[in-house]
Amino acid sequence: MTRRPVGIVMNGVTGRMGSRQHLIRSILAIRASGGVPVGDGQVIWPEPILVGRSADRLRALATAHGLERWTTDLDQALAEADAEVYFDAQVTSEREKSIRAAIEAGKHVYTEKPLAEDTAGALDLARLARAAGVKTGVVQDKLFLPGLRKLARLVEGGFFGRILSVRGEFGYWVFEGDWQEAQRPSWNYRAEDGGGIVMDMFCHWQYVLENIFGPVRSVQALAATHIPERVDEQGVRYDCTADDAAYGIFELEGGIVAQINSSWAVRVYRDELVEFQVDGTEGSAVAGLRNCRIQHRAMTPKPVWNPDLPVTEDFRAQWAEVPDNEEFDNGFKAQWELFLRHVVADAPFAWDFLAGAKGVQLAELGLRSSRERCRLDVPELSL
Ligand SMILES: NC(=O)c1ccc[n+]([C@@H]2O[C@H](COP(=O)([O-])OP(=O)(O)OC[C@H]3O[C@@H](n4cnc5c(N)ncnc54)[C@H](O)[C@@H]3O)[C@@H](O)[C@H]2O)c1
Repeated sequence: MTRRPVGIVMNGVTGRMGSRQHLIRSILAIRASGGVPVGDGQVIWPEPILVGRSADRLRALATAHGLERWTTDLDQALAEADAEVYFDAQVTSEREKSIRAAIEAGKHVYTEKPLAEDTAGALDLARLARAAGVKTGVVQDKLFLPGLRKLARLVEGGFFGRILSVRGEFGYWVFEGDWQEAQRPSWNYRAEDGGGIVMDMFCHWQYVLENIFGPVRSVQALAATHIPERVDEQGVRYDCTADDAAYGIFELEGGIVAQINSSWAVRVYRDELVEFQVDGTEGSAVAGLRNCRIQHRAMTPKPVWNPDLPVTEDFRAQWAEVPDNEEFDNGFKAQWELFLRHVVADAPFAWDFLAGAKGVQLAELGLRSSRERCRLDVPELSL
């Protein structure tokens, strides 16, 4: 096997997503498994160049993983002769200007979502990239979750008949930081720093709904800030200026109604942190991160509403587990491999900046719908 090296400037790599999912579980995992095969005896060999704000943290991260290339100077990293790809996992508010610099330097760009803080900014980046002739990609990791892969398989196989509705429940309790340390960074709860659950999760719901069921045609949302004050990483109290819960209704092409609750102020009484129930004329499914259960029309019980009697059926026991039937790799790694093949061998890649802009658009419209107390159509985006 010959190695085809690809220099990847990885910015924001000391953060939660940058270090765990992208550096360790994707790029280093790809190297540990021998690279990404592209035929002709070649493997793509990612060469990470770490970028961040703190020299100490970068040095420590590089040393821990046997890497030598790191810098606090983005321009210097972009000027490296072998750097072909720029990757961004910084806080959302820092993303747009860095991606702009990377495109101007002629790099292909792969980025965490949301692509930008508003639709205009996201489309602007998509247009810039097209004009510069560079390839683009946005992380859409939820599509690679085993539970959702099985759900997509059921849709493709026609299991549901006519799909009527999708009910999603996402969330968990994020500690306020006073009594127990918060398990999410504080910027998530400040609008001025790009936080908010609508901006965070509607980007995900947009591509999940579009890729599995059909494009979103309208949105109606109510965003709330249930916890008004939290304590940050330094132990200092701050005002929460961003939404921490969103109750959204989405109309999809073909008349499917999707209703998704997203919350960082909910306690989990579910099997998984996210679950989607899909009801169709022929059958229903409940999919989580890993598992997916189904109930066919022929196996559907006929409960009769009578609150005077105790429950007569074990409803949960009436569902059957969908088998894996394949091996599921880490979703972030799987998408990285596709993007690297796209860069090196021109393999198809569906989740470009235009796809990323649609996520930002849905989040922006969701916030507007909440502010204006109305339902909004989702216009088609084009470059
Ligand atoms: N795909 C997913 O499932 C998923 C999940 C969580 C977060 N994200 C996205 O990943 C990005 C990073 O989120 P995270 O949870 O890793 O955040 P984090 O706070 O853990 O990391 C943020 C990174 O940005 C850097 N940074 C640059 N400028 C900064 C500034 N002015 N203030 C603070 N940090 C700054 C930090 O040094 C750090 O490396 C966000 O855009 C977020 O939307 C995606």
